[in-house]
Amino acid sequence: MIEAIKKRRAIRQYLDEKVSDEKLNEIISAAMYAPSANAIYPWDLIIIKNNETKEKLSKVTPWSGHVKDAQVVIAVVGHETESPDWVEDCSIAAEHIWLEATDQGLGACWVQIRGNENAQKEVKELLSVPDEHRVLCLIPIGVIGKAEEEHSEDDFDRTRIKQESY
Ligand SMILES: Cc1cc2nc3c(=O)[nH]c(=O)nc-3n(C[C@H](O)[C@H](O)[C@H](O)COP(=O)(O)O)c2cc1C
Repeated sequence: MIEAIKKRRAIRQYLDEKVSDEKLNEIISAAMYAPSANAIYPWDLIIIKNNETKEKLSKVTPWSGHVKDAQVVIAVVGHETESPDWVEDCSIAAEHIWLEATDQGLGACWVQIRGNENAQKEVKELLSVPDEHRVLCLIPIGVIGKAEEEHSEDDFDRTRIKQESY
């Protein structure tokens, strides 16, 4: 597990190569096995492969340009009205997607939509998301075009780890 965790990076360049249905199914399953407060599972996943839709999604924020180059994009949609913990639940599901994509040898990234009301509106319109739901993020996934080095202990600050009390 720690190996996949260290390898997981924000990958923003992808090759124009297909992601197999087998791999995609494993990635989707990883999200669906995520834990959820009170076992509500307040999410939907929208799987997007259509080039025109990806192109439009890539324009919704200044940090979403790479979405158009991904083979598949997964939109994580939260059911805000069903659970006060939808952000936590959906974030864990999104991280499962990212980690499983890494473990499948693919590149992925998190593209934030929650908190940007213009982007929220545009993505909801593009993907016909019901009014009462909220889009947490988009996760572009593809065959890695430009790899990033895996994380090592040099990447984090050990003073953040406290023993017994702050
Ligand atoms: C909540 C969240 C929002 C993020 N939003 C974006 C984004 O909109 N666009 C993007 O390219 N990367 C985004 N990222 C990726 C971060 O920039 C990346 O995780 C960070 O630079 C650390 O690099 P690493 O993921 O390779 O370890 C986001 C990550 C998180 C956790």
